[in-house]
Amino acid sequence: MPLNKTDATAPRAPQLKVLVIHGPNLNLLGAREPEIYGSTTLKDIDRELKRLGAELGITVTAYQTNSEGAIVDKIQNARGRADVILINPGAYTHTSVAIRDALSAVALPAIEVHLSNVYRRERFRHRSLVADIVVGRIMGFGAAGYYLALRAARELGAASAPERH
Ligand code: DQA
Repeated sequence: MPLNKTDATAPRAPQLKVLVIHGPNLNLLGAREPEIYGSTTLKDIDRELKRLGAELGITVTAYQTNSEGAIVDKIQNARGRADVILINPGAYTHTSVAIRDALSAVALPAIEVHLSNVYRRERFRHRSLVADIVVGRIMGFGAAGYYLALRAARELGAASAPERH
């Protein structure tokens, strides 16, 4: 019997697994201050992340919560389950030692995303408690920042596990 290349039983390279965490108030995207955050909803962003992920060979899991402790739990649970964390901690960016500590504890490569350029805004948004422990930061590009971050995650994944690609 000829070997079919699309045979579902054929061995496949493992997919990169990316966990996307959206922090507080990001569930309101689309309706929330659209002049700052744009009109794209979180549902739209997650749908596009999954579509793009499928194109890039990435399994995307996306999660939103308004609660700091739930973000800490998600980060802790990512150990052994995700390869890269993509996180927009929202307002907790500027305040949360707990989220910083969780990211340090799991030691997974993380990318910080913000829809707005926080440096063009109030001074209290200029400080990020995770900026120096993430691999990189993408901000100011609205929803597109998430898609850029997913591509960046793929670069990280490729660098850490060349056999995946
Ligand atoms: C934000 C910026 C934060 O300062 C703010 O509290 C948010 C959203 C952004 O994506 O631009 O909730 O993280």
